[in-house]
Amino acid sequence: MIKTDRYAVFGHPIKHSKSPRIHQLFAEQTGQSIEYTAQDVPAEQFNTAVQSFFAAGGKGLNCTVPLKGLAWAFADRKTERAQLSQAVNTLAVQADGAILGDNTDGQGLVTDLTVNHAITLTGRRILILGAGGASRGIMGPLLEQAPCAIVIANRTVDKAIDLAQAFQNKGAVSGCGFGDLQNQQFDLILNATSASLSDQLPPLPDAILAENGVCYDLAYGNEPTAFVRWGLRQNAAKSLDGLGMLVEQAAEAFFIWRGARPETRPVIELLNSERRA
Ligand code: ATR
Repeated sequence: MIKTDRYAVFGHPIKHSKSPRIHQLFAEQTGQSIEYTAQDVPAEQFNTAVQSFFAAGGKGLNCTVPLKGLAWAFADRKTERAQLSQAVNTLAVQADGAILGDNTDGQGLVTDLTVNHAITLTGRRILILGAGGASRGIMGPLLEQAPCAIVIANRTVDKAIDLAQAFQNKGAVSGCGFGDLQNQQFDLILNATSASLSDQLPPLPDAILAENGVCYDLAYGNEPTAFVRWGLRQNAAKSLDGLGMLVEQAAEAFFIWRGARPETRPVIELLNSERRA
């Protein structure tokens, strides 16, 4: 009998995770047989849960809020992008038994923006709202696109300045508070704060979005987030949420585990149609 390879997503909470569905769709599409489950794992149980998962023959894990920093600390080896982001969303068993940690979030965002939505990042002015783990995770892949500048604005200004400092040798990056954004314009505004989760909005000045500018919320929900609605009110050329990023980061993880690249578009379309239903 052929043994089915086992994968899972760990998080807390995890009930509403779309990852099991996405990975099953990828597996069907690429003709593979995998098992992918969601497991509620509070932070204090993380190390034990991961150890037992791999000891029982599990092949790979996704880790989500609030476990990405713990996954980073757990991994035996890390990719450069994971090292830079200090967060890991994908763990994979290597041929020698070591556990590799990677972070596919930033690449997922860049692919969604540049491939799915045909948005150019090179030479553009980008504003990132928030300076937590989500912001750190996307900095490296965004800077690889050679934007003209990245400004990080955060409620706690010091965190924005520190994050900018960590990436200063990779491009024109600066950090500031929301109050320092007057009289500036950006081609792309990314919301990486957790404000969306409570339907709140960081305080943003009017006219901050350049003509034909794009808004993108890393969060997503069945209804448009407060930030997506704000973007629409600012006449953004596009005001998008993070569903595409979710599917793209999953596709990167699937590739790391299975060596096959699934087609993401039909999966994004299916998930989009379900939330409109
Ligand atoms: P994540 O891993 O999702 O980035 P995090 O590290 O806790 O989570 O970071 C949350 C980010 O959202 C922070 O930048 C936080 O601002 P502070 O550093 O000042 O706490 C930001 N944030 C959360 N709620 C917010 C709100 N209502 N308005 C503006 N920013 C908010």
